[in-house]
Amino acid sequence: MSKVAEIFETMEYGPAPESAERAKAWLDEHGRAFGHYIGGAFTDPDAGESFGTANPATGVAMARVVQGSAADVDAAVSAARGAQPGWWALGPHGRAKYLYALARRIQKHARLFAVLESMDNGKPIRESRDLDIPLVARHFYHHAGWAQLMDAELPGYEPVGVVGQIIPWNFPMLMLAWKIAPALATGNTVVLKPAEFTPLTALLFAELCRDAGLPDGVVNVVTGDGRTGAALVEHLGVDKIAFTGSTEVGRIIRTATAGSGKRVSLELGGKSPFIVFDDADLDSVVEGVVDAIWFNQGQVCCAGSRVLAQEGVAVALERKLRARMETLRMGDPLDKAVDMGAIVAPVQLERIRGLVEKGRQEGAEVWQPSWSAPKEGWFFPPTLCTNCAPSGTLAQVEIFGPVVVMMTFRTPAEAVELANDTRYGLAASIWTESVNLALDVAPKVKAGTVWVNCTNLFDAASGFGGYRESGFGREGGLEGLWDYVRPSWEKSAGEVPAPAPPPTPEDAPTAGAPGVDRTAKLYIGGKQVRPDGDASMIVTGAAGRVVGEVGRGNRKDVRNAVEAARKAQRGWATRAAHNRAQILYYVAENLDARRAEFAARLAAISGDSDGAQAEVEASVRRLFSYAAWADKWDGRVHATPFRNVTLAMNEPIGVMGAVCPEEYPLLGFVSCVAPLVAMGNTVVAIPSRVGPLGATDFYQVLETSDVPAGVVNIVTGQHDEVVPTLAAHDDVDGVWYFGGAEGSAGVEKASTGNMKRTWVSYGRARKWMDAHRGEGEEFLREATQVKNIWVPYGE
Ligand code: NAI
Repeated sequence: MSKVAEIFETMEYGPAPESAERAKAWLDEHGRAFGHYIGGAFTDPDAGESFGTANPATGVAMARVVQGSAADVDAAVSAARGAQPGWWALGPHGRAKYLYALARRIQKHARLFAVLESMDNGKPIRESRDLDIPLVARHFYHHAGWAQLMDAELPGYEPVGVVGQIIPWNFPMLMLAWKIAPALATGNTVVLKPAEFTPLTALLFAELCRDAGLPDGVVNVVTGDGRTGAALVEHLGVDKIAFTGSTEVGRIIRTATAGSGKRVSLELGGKSPFIVFDDADLDSVVEGVVDAIWFNQGQVCCAGSRVLAQEGVAVALERKLRARMETLRMGDPLDKAVDMGAIVAPVQLERIRGLVEKGRQEGAEVWQPSWSAPKEGWFFPPTLCTNCAPSGTLAQVEIFGPVVVMMTFRTPAEAVELANDTRYGLAASIWTESVNLALDVAPKVKAGTVWVNCTNLFDAASGFGGYRESGFGREGGLEGLWDYVRPSWEKSAGEVPAPAPPPTPEDAPTAGAPGVDRTAKLYIGGKQVRPDGDASMIVTGAAGRVVGEVGRGNRKDVRNAVEAARKAQRGWATRAAHNRAQILYYVAENLDARRAEFAARLAAISGDSDGAQAEVEASVRRLFSYAAWADKWDGRVHATPFRNVTLAMNEPIGVMGAVCPEEYPLLGFVSCVAPLVAMGNTVVAIPSRVGPLGATDFYQVLETSDVPAGVVNIVTGQHDEVVPTLAAHDDVDGVWYFGGAEGSAGVEKASTGNMKRTWVSYGRARKWMDAHRGEGEEFLREATQVKNIWVPYGE
């Protein structure tokens, strides 16, 4: 009795351990050694190099796994390749039944998965049991639905093929589900490489695939470290790479795949702001911070690692946070009453320690609660850092540990500026009682996910992914499916014949050439400007006849154009869509009025006057189409299972480069520029090399159509001079390139500096005159990025 009374007095927690017996038995059944899972069977665990995986809470080894070699990767890719046609041929309902069966089995074995996950990763059982594994099952259920609905929802699309998937160690099973469920739903087969620190639940999942009777080769798991990942990235039989992990490795992967024709989606790091306005409910904010940065020991890509507090509440918030940190419980991850577990590996622990130390040396104040972290295993206490400069290490570098920095701001505008002051753009959290303020700030923050008065909510129905250097592509929801499919016509699309290189002033006949009338200038910031180098290029038309000259832009001209586009960006993006539509209609109207003049110019280039008439006509129609789309490419409200609305908003990407196709000087130009500006982007367009005059004439139309200065900029020039500068420019957010394989590869390679999004054609013929292939939703998707804003309601 006295004991109970004492407990009431002290309110001490007793131990509440979850049993590890079942997980240990499973490991023992396998002799604590695992091979890869390839073609529906496990390979010999004793074949080749192997390494151990340890329990982060104790440091004790749990099992050995094989270091996948290039030959292992090759075998897995072959198995996936062999299985892919059959898996696709199963049809929507056939695949849906398997995904549903996997979801059921995950639920049936949920406890084993959760315990094994906590043992391998160090995360508290409360999280693996209540969040990771239920969400894993939810992803498979949700995507069983997409499999079923594929014909109805994605008509005209087919799977990409064999997908290589590389995942990190922070949410081993959840990342597996995010990757595998959409891939299988859309008819792809996969080779998955789990992280070296946490391979065990992926192997349990492989066993479950086998037991569910999933056709051999549909899912393959190859274990190993970064070398195995690199072999998968480089394998020629892989059609797409889906990666989650550090921005550094993401950049390596983007570089390695550039020019290979492989599709890539990257979910990378973050340094997400957690913005607290002075009318926020501070007690809720404190629990929010706990979930934002101490969830999973802060090893979360979207962790709210920067608390930005409005000056009026900063002191009170800091006091409350410290008090709450004193009560956090850290210890055995299998203890059901523990809030924080262990850090995944010694190398990560050292990284966290090193970064905090660096912050301290830079002048930050580092505060930790008075209790001490367990000595055995790899633990790091919750840490609050203040007095950090916005440009300092702690405010800029992704620490991936339980370390939060706190900074202050005065006005909402300053909050937005601070929030966006990193290279990342993964997530943000906004705390205020004013829905007006929250929904004003949410669109201004550069992030793929914005949580209002909540944080770290995830669901299969909502897409997740980054802006800027946090990567591109989405996982979850309809928006997540597009990364796993391609238009069916692409397979049979012919190649665009490579055009003859245009003559340079040196080799083209100029003197006395007939028909030379004037030199078209560049169009930058709403003005016709001479190229920086004052050089020009001859444009020849049918039968080599000289039809004019255009300015030969150089790097400086590209940079000036980007600057003008950036200046115009915000104003253009925030205009009402109706207004953008009106301007596009006006452009169409003015082009229509000058139809004869444009047709004559195009005919001079091509020698085909009927074709020229048709091209002008198609261009006017296309402008009408995108004027029509401007206010119709709206988002969705996702049906996520919380009391909230999850608004999936289509936002412009920002400043876009567009390298226009050679085939149709005017129509190609309009087909690139119109969808981009309709969606609120500003553009630096590089016209066709063959017929740049088709585009430069167009600036006269722009000038008379109320298009604001800087929204469309046109730089003519030798492509090998101007395109690399545009593709590499750090203030360009995305590039479209319609041209040959070599140029496409160059754009992808140059894009890695700021990880900008690219859309390149590899010389595939697109049929620009065709309303199906030359315009439409594919262009609109490539002109926008989805931001999911979570707004809870109710008590
Ligand atoms: P990482 O990015 O190196 O590892 C992620 C995955 O990529 C693992 O499966 C790894 O084996 C694989 N990999 C490594 N090098 C590769 C290569 N050259 N080619 C293909 N695959 C490769 O992350 P790591 O080393 O585990 O953690 C280092 C830091 O990265 C962390 O401190 C954290 O800041 C960040 N990180 C961010 C994650 C996120 O979700 N944003 C996830 C994991 C780490």
